[in-house]
Amino acid sequence: MKILLLGSGELGKEFTIAAQRIGQIVIAVDSYENAPAMQVAHGFEVINMLDGDALDKIVAKHNPDFIVPEIEAIRTERFYEYEKQGITVVPSAKAANFTMNRKAIRDLAAKELGLKTANYRYATTAEELRKGVEAVGMPCVVKPLMSSSGKGQSTIKTETDIEKAWNYAVEGSRGDVVEVIVEAFVKFNSEITLLTVVQNNNPTLFCAPIGHRQERGDYQESWQPARISDANLYEAQDMAEKVTEALGGAGLFGVEFFLADDGVYFSELSPRPHDTGMVTLAGTQNFNEFELHLRAILSLPIFEITLEKAGASAVVLASDNSSNPTYSGIEEIASLPKTDFRIFGKPTSRPYRRMGVALVHDTLETPIEEIVEKAKKAAGLVSVKA
Ligand SMILES: Nc1ncnc2c1ncn2[C@@H]1O[C@H](COP(=O)(O)OP(=O)(O)OP(=O)(O)O)[C@@H](O)[C@H]1O
Ligand SMILES: [Mg+2]
Repeated sequence: MKILLLGSGELGKEFTIAAQRIGQIVIAVDSYENAPAMQVAHGFEVINMLDGDALDKIVAKHNPDFIVPEIEAIRTERFYEYEKQGITVVPSAKAANFTMNRKAIRDLAAKELGLKTANYRYATTAEELRKGVEAVGMPCVVKPLMSSSGKGQSTIKTETDIEKAWNYAVEGSRGDVVEVIVEAFVKFNSEITLLTVVQNNNPTLFCAPIGHRQERGDYQESWQPARISDANLYEAQDMAEKVTEALGGAGLFGVEFFLADDGVYFSELSPRPHDTGMVTLAGTQNFNEFELHLRAILSLPIFEITLEKAGASAVVLASDNSSNPTYSGIEEIASLPKTDFRIFGKPTSRPYRRMGVALVHDTLETPIEEIVEKAKKAAGLVSVKA
């Protein structure tokens, strides 16, 4: 099969490697040359994926069997047309289009499906935001409708934060829509990603829950399995099944939940492998999240997903701008037991850009906190030099 991969970061690179291993053809697309997935694909294209005409051109040129989005910032409205042309958009045009805008997915989850979410409002002006804050109460979180990785996101604690939060969200907003969501701050005890695999002719399967810690809008460490009560896990699985079914198609989804004293809150989802799911590269499961995504897309049956080991991942971030980043500490991390790592091969670095990941595994009996600590220490050995 020919796969057009839209977005060529580290997640796309692992997906491409999985596809290469079973003889598929991948054309990797991104806005810059030599992106990680391009380094392992059959071919590549450099375009602005928010430009619908540029997108149409490469789809016509390559005529793929599958379009696999790896990021949100794509002119996803065009996906419906590609679907009509007989191309399979993964997991579906609707799933990619709905999750590109927080409003579509939140209204689907909360209003249509009745899932429990933080109380929320939308606003298109600072004045509307003020009303929204009044409705949901403080503290509350403001996010642009179109953004990811925490861009434009801030927390309002007092009245004086409102104006600042509005301006910050407008600055961090992607695309032409200037609208924000304001939602009540959920005092969660932990948050999880539930990797959910929707298959074409077989039942939906769940991976063991993944815990993670966020900073500046990006994950720092993730671990599997996360501690969660059976009751909460079943509730999360039930919500994940409902929302993925409503979005349609086949593939792996990363469904995000908050676990609070008063139960499980649905937060948002990625209709594709999730960055926190990189922990599966530590060999925690019989198939990693990229292999699962690929199998589901190709309608290859997945009999079961088994948790083989406990594991953790910790990110390696750059601290400077560079057009020739190099790495130190590789020998040190390589000498650690039960530890592995990835360097993504990004051609340039900037402060806080994710450049690699440390992966640690151990037996299922090992306390997960210990494994997380080891992953953090391992990642700390590697530094990115400008
Ligand atoms: N209502 C909320 N209450 C408490 N914390 C929140 C709330 N909304 C978001 N957060 C925190 O901010 C993080 C990022 O939020 P969210 O996932 O909605 O944004 P994002 O920009 O789409 O992030 P990403 O694309 O990296 O997943 C969450 O994982 C959580 O830690
Ligand atoms: Mg998120």
